Amino acid sequence: MPRLLLLVPALLAGLLGVRAADRAAPSGPAADLKFATPAESKAEFDRAVAPVLAKHCNACHNGKKDEGDLDLTALDPDMKATTSGARWAMVVEKVVAGEMPPKGKPRPPAEELAAVVRWARAEAKRSNRPFTRRAAYANGNSVPHAALFDPKNVPAFDGGPRVRRLSPEIYAAFTGELAKGKPGIAQPFSPEGKTTFKDMGGPKIDEPVTAQLIQNALAIAEAQTNHKVENGEVKAVGYTAKEFLALLDPARPPTDAQVEAAVAHQFNLILRRPPTDDERKRFAAFTRKNLGDAGPAVGLRYSLAAVLMLPEAVFRMEVGSGKPDAKGRVRLSPREIAFALSYGLTDRRPDVELLKAAATGELDTDAGVAKQARRLLDDSKTEKPRILRFFREYFGYAAATEVFKNDKDNPEHDARTLVEDTDRLILYVLEQDKDVLRELLTTNKSFVAYKTGATLKKQRAEALAKFEKEKAANPEKFKTKQPPKVGRSVYEAYGLKDFPDQQPADLPADQRAGILTQPSWLVANSTSDDNHAIHRGKWVRERLLGGVVPDVPITVDAQLPIAPEKTLRERMAVTEQEYCWKCHRLMNDVAYPFEQFDHFGRFRTAEAVLDPEATAKNKDAKGKPLGPVMKGVPVNAAGLVAHVGDPALEGPVTGAVPFLKKLAASERVEQVFVRHAFRYWTGRNESPGDAASLQAAQKAYRASGGSMKALVAALMSSESFLYRVPEAGAEK
Ligand code: HEC
Ligand code: HEC
Repeated sequence: MPRLLLLVPALLAGLLGVRAADRAAPSGPAADLKFATPAESKAEFDRAVAPVLAKHCNACHNGKKDEGDLDLTALDPDMKATTSGARWAMVVEKVVAGEMPPKGKPRPPAEELAAVVRWARAEAKRSNRPFTRRAAYANGNSVPHAALFDPKNVPAFDGGPRVRRLSPEIYAAFTGELAKGKPGIAQPFSPEGKTTFKDMGGPKIDEPVTAQLIQNALAIAEAQTNHKVENGEVKAVGYTAKEFLALLDPARPPTDAQVEAAVAHQFNLILRRPPTDDERKRFAAFTRKNLGDAGPAVGLRYSLAAVLMLPEAVFRMEVGSGKPDAKGRVRLSPREIAFALSYGLTDRRPDVELLKAAATGELDTDAGVAKQARRLLDDSKTEKPRILRFFREYFGYAAATEVFKNDKDNPEHDARTLVEDTDRLILYVLEQDKDVLRELLTTNKSFVAYKTGATLKKQRAEALAKFEKEKAANPEKFKTKQPPKVGRSVYEAYGLKDFPDQQPADLPADQRAGILTQPSWLVANSTSDDNHAIHRGKWVRERLLGGVVPDVPITVDAQLPIAPEKTLRERMAVTEQEYCWKCHRLMNDVAYPFEQFDHFGRFRTAEAVLDPEATAKNKDAKGKPLGPVMKGVPVNAAGLVAHVGDPALEGPVTGAVPFLKKLAASERVEQVFVRHAFRYWTGRNESPGDAASLQAAQKAYRASGGSMKALVAALMSSESFLYRVPEAGAEK
């Protein structure tokens, strides 16, 4: 054993050495704007940037008046010579976010601002201070809507090469398949914290993650080499492949062909491709050395683990290959496309047909890619958990199970069932695949305890029959008894009087319209004892209206006054002070229509508040207080759509149903939805260079009568999905 422990670092060194050698560095010649010398950059600056700044910025940002502590007239355009890079990055960020010039000031034409950004990026690259795109687009919505959906102004695509780690789900499916239930595999990746969608992470692989990956690789390799020696014969235990068994016999050293066959087998298993000649030679030599150093069992284990640690096994490669075309773009390799398509819809690596399509050139054309995407989308046998996951993450209703509620306040509440019902409703709408967004925002259909309702109803009828029978037999004893209670009456949250016989059921059409009126969504945006109107409003502002709500400043004590005699809306008046209102005007008014529901998602026309006078009078004969008395105050569900920049959408609304119908009819809302789908299926935020892909996706959605399949297929065969511009620099 000590000998083995000593060997571990050496074997790992070999393993990591192989890794480093295999890391592909994206490279390629020039694209759109590139400066070889400071003079070239300065010429472009003088031509396209300085005049824009002079006209639109310098009045406020000069030596005398340096708003935001920024003197643009003194900012050196040579980023290498000075430390001005960070400030230029800030300029790009403000311009891209549409925050400068400030609101209300004349706005330069989009192409002039685009020229500023293009120059700054190219100069940053020349001076070796590339801005990360993430810094500029931390919030996807901060790219102005008009920069993406104006068909007359479609900037060139500029998405850079990407390498991202597998999602936790893909990794789990992959290792689960390999280890065949063997314990000892732990999830090394955690989902992204701050992004709308969980799987948008860059290749953040730090030391603890690497350590866990190595541990897992070794555990898997152990399962892959499980064997016993009986009467001098090496025998498989479990699923050990014959290619590996051939290397495990201590009495018979393997031939070169056998070592190479084992390497090839592992490559096919892990990477779904044979090793290249070079890889075969390198890994065979590495395996031989390990077999010699550590003996067959341990040596082979480490060698197989090395394949599991290849970047290609842990990362999603989307760097592209080949020569850039006239627009500076390279296409993803057919293999990268096959993986990207499969990971777009499933948690599995590509199936045989996709790999075949990659090998036969079908994925070389956009039409071929669209066809394969369609095949996967239409194939009912292929599980596609990623589609429902998109809607779960977009709407966020599954968080209902995380909101603590007091059972005493509503014994019928059952968050898990509410979430299952909404999942089912989404799947139902997807099955129809018609006007998907509009249906999701307006349908009054709903599943109501669809998994348990029918059973509960039957059990209740049986229990009641039994009760009645016993009562008839013994009326005296049962006089004061109530029939037994079986299960929770979840239907109350939906405004029904019983479990429906038909699923989906029709809910009252004047009360319910789609997911945002599902109890799950309402509960997800509530606290333990009240609505969370601010969260509801933030959701609508960001995910339907495409707005940006700045984070709560840490100096703000974000609490509403405790005033049980007031309605929530009255208590929210504190956020109408001028300082608070610049943010809260974006949230409050688009949340109030949902005040028609209580914090369990039940429809209401009145809100219960404390009645101080009645409470004061509520005493027994001896003057002892008997407790609080509540009264109903009519709900004020008046809201206002404003600060959107779309006159068709803006104006007052009253009540959730008319509000949601208005939103569902808006093209802007549809576009914001497409933006979110884009983010989910590309795993990154959009930038102006994605305008062509976004517009094509929306067009496909429209032309198909609102088909989600058409939208996803369009996204997965779009320029943004299939191409990379090496010169843009690696995406984070
Ligand atoms: C009407 C005056 C005005 C104009 C015009 C204006 N700005 Fe500003 N700018 C401000 C003020 C005020 C601030 C500080 C408050 C803020 O950040 O909102 C600021 C802040 C900034 C900052 C952030 C500085 C920092 O370090 O936080 C940048 C960058 C910036 N402006 C760039 C620009 C650019 C680029 C333009 C032209 C496209 C421009 N500004 C036009 C008034 C202006
Ligand atoms: C810069 C923007 C901004 C400003 C200014 C601001 N808020 Fe907020 N506030 C937010 C955002 C965003 C949220 C939602 C935070 C979240 O997602 O939990 C919020 C949430 C709240 C909440 C709910 C907190 C909770 O989670 O229960 C209260 C209460 C609140 N703000 C009060 C105020 C008051 C009072 C002021 C003024 C003194 C103020 N805010 C100023 C952005 C702002």
